[in-house]
Amino acid sequence: MNIKLLTHPTMKNVRVFVCENYDELSEKAAAIVGGAMQQKDGFILGLATGSSPVGLYQGLIKQYEEGVLDFSKVKSYNLDEYYPIAPENDQSYVYFMNKNLFDHVNIDKANVHLPDGNAADVEKACSDYEKEISDLGGVDLQVLGIGSNGHIGFNEPCDEFVGPTHVVTLTENTIKDNSRFFASADLVPRKAVSMGIGTIMNAKQIVLVANGKNKADAIKAALEGPVVPGVPASVLQFHKNVTFVLDKDAASKLEIFKEN
Ligand code: F6R
Repeated sequence: MNIKLLTHPTMKNVRVFVCENYDELSEKAAAIVGGAMQQKDGFILGLATGSSPVGLYQGLIKQYEEGVLDFSKVKSYNLDEYYPIAPENDQSYVYFMNKNLFDHVNIDKANVHLPDGNAADVEKACSDYEKEISDLGGVDLQVLGIGSNGHIGFNEPCDEFVGPTHVVTLTENTIKDNSRFFASADLVPRKAVSMGIGTIMNAKQIVLVANGKNKADAIKAALEGPVVPGVPASVLQFHKNVTFVLDKDAASKLEIFKEN
């Protein structure tokens, strides 16, 4: 592996690994996440969906199969879920997580948590989810992807950072983007529930994975631009322990973060 570690001249809380390709990125991210999980019994793992962490999850499954990783006491909390959506719907994040991770490791499904896409009282479901995570002291490690517009979770660019888990009304743009996964745009849920920026920032450690040229501007803005709600991921510059694991393309616009 030919992985470069980039650092910022002053911002020592943020590490950036640049990998040759997606496979290498996934292996590196899985080594960081798996390594952290081995340090603590009852690890609280924050998870993301989307294409970026699929290879990381395959790496965790491999570590489990090799007997290196045990999920039996792990508790997981996902970033987000559509609302309303049934868990059996193959576009639900419950379905995604079962297919890409949970069905392949020895996690106790009673310890798996996602925002309730079917809650009768969705506002209450948000505050219950937030309280549950905060009562645990925040997640131990949060896995993140990043949108090409700099979003994290369903926290889209806006005028102010929203702290706790909340209901999001999807923009027409997001509905259009996500309609490729549904039979038609009418079937895309109009809302979602997402951990807020505060929930994410309360994680003790954060690992963000991103690959591809279409993420290069978002990565540059997140890491080297000002911290503004117009680029939600830029807030990660203020986190005390955050690692970006990127491929060459996603890292291609960085200038201030350098190998040294
Ligand atoms: C998923 C999530 C989103 C994705 C982001 C990137 O739970 O919260 O913020 O991480 O949209 O998606 P991909 O990885 O598909 O490019």
